[in-house]
Amino acid sequence: MAFYYKEVSRTFSEYLLVPNLTRKDCIPSKVSLKTPIVKFKKDEEPPIEINIPFVSAIMQSVSDDNLAIALSKCGGLSFIFGSQPIEEQAEMVSRVKNFKAGFVVSNANLSPEQTLKDVVELKSKLGHATIAITEDGTLNSKLVGIVTSRDYRMSRDPLDRKIKEFMTPFSKLIVSTTNTSLKEANDIIWEHKLNCLPIINDQQHLAYFVFRKDYEDHKENPLQLLDSEKRYMVGAGINTRDYKERVPALVKAGVDVLCVDSSDGFSEWQAETIKYIKEEYKDSVKIGGGNVVDKEGFMFFVEAGADFVKVGIGGGSICITRETKGIGRGQASAVIEVAQARDDYFKETGIYIPICSDGGVVHDYHMVLALAMGADFIMMGRYFARFDESPAPKTKLGNNYVKEYWGEGSKRARNWERYDLGEGSNLKFEEGVDSYVPYAGKLKDNIDVTLSKIKSTLCSCGAISIKELQKVARITLVSSTSIVEGGAHDVILKENNY
Ligand code: IMP
Repeated sequence: MAFYYKEVSRTFSEYLLVPNLTRKDCIPSKVSLKTPIVKFKKDEEPPIEINIPFVSAIMQSVSDDNLAIALSKCGGLSFIFGSQPIEEQAEMVSRVKNFKAGFVVSNANLSPEQTLKDVVELKSKLGHATIAITEDGTLNSKLVGIVTSRDYRMSRDPLDRKIKEFMTPFSKLIVSTTNTSLKEANDIIWEHKLNCLPIINDQQHLAYFVFRKDYEDHKENPLQLLDSEKRYMVGAGINTRDYKERVPALVKAGVDVLCVDSSDGFSEWQAETIKYIKEEYKDSVKIGGGNVVDKEGFMFFVEAGADFVKVGIGGGSICITRETKGIGRGQASAVIEVAQARDDYFKETGIYIPICSDGGVVHDYHMVLALAMGADFIMMGRYFARFDESPAPKTKLGNNYVKEYWGEGSKRARNWERYDLGEGSNLKFEEGVDSYVPYAGKLKDNIDVTLSKIKSTLCSCGAISIKELQKVARITLVSSTSIVEGGAHDVILKENNY
């Protein structure tokens, strides 16, 4: 006879947090949302922690290198989508790892024999006032000078004047070398009252510019997520088919953490994949698995050697798995059960395996509920798809701007591997839709607001860390009538009131 769960399968909207005493030290500026994302032993430091508990979904319409850099700057982590050729995914990873915050590769370069006219044209085309002058006008030759708007006067200088006559020559430039850190570069900028500092390599080629304004921008991101070499951190999704080729390429590109991406992870293929990677790379490669929705699924991954376990089936905003296949579980019920299994396992063994709540976050308070129920971090697709930095096209729909957002199980994604049940390479039916989401502007602006809300809720719950929240949170189920009471009601809303 089939097994019947006694509890109804529930989702975040069915719960609320009941406030606790807010101590005087519970103020938003004291709240830390730092959280572990991979396995660690009791009394040991987690090998990887993220500074805000958000990771972006392993999806074509969400996580490319551009979004990864923006999110890592804010303290979170992206998992670059795996449904693309190996070289292209590895290239995205390496673009994140090689991105040097504050170090800008010059794309406005001319030679000393060119003229003021060329300077003016390049400036209006690219919008930069700082132009590198190199022997042959490319970055593959010696830096011989720099031109900025201080070097010429449009009203007096003839347009055919040669650059070599008015540039600031190399001999008068203050430059530094490629082993300079951003902090050192900034000190030089301040000491010499510069607007920009050229960084050269041992052949006197221009490697980067460091601009005064970029250092200030860098200081605005105190939570940025950096590895031991001060590079942005990034994850990547893999599948259970080509991992023997894909993983070495991603590791070579410098990926920090991997995740096997599948709609239903409780499968022998996933265990095989994780075991293989752990045998090949031991602990030097961190890998999570998923998705599961219960204790059995969690323990299956523990035995396979996973560094974290991802939780959630059928709750994603673009997901129609529950409708098409009739499988899944309310996201809240899934997180609650898996968190309990994680805590029991930790008590028994002293090994902590973080869990990630994946999909179904609609409101910011859902994030706090997921954390309070035991999630260590949260994966989101829809949330990030709305931002400037996501790879999806922005278009106008009626009077509003929207971004496109499509599921990995939609025809558009052609991601057969994610739904593969071992029998081949085409999708017989869709498990996801192609959709629009309201355009919401810059990632950082939105994350700042979300974080303010989350920190404020933690304070109301009497907690200043995620761990503390998980200990003290008091959570209540809500009736459908009290959900109505929770929104604006019995008033006539003014236009633009949201
Ligand atoms: P969202 O944050 O609610 O938009 O959910 C994002 C999550 O949905 C992803 O991290 C995946 O786990 C899941 N997902 C992505 N594409 C599909 C799909 O096509 N069908 C079902 N689930 C999907």
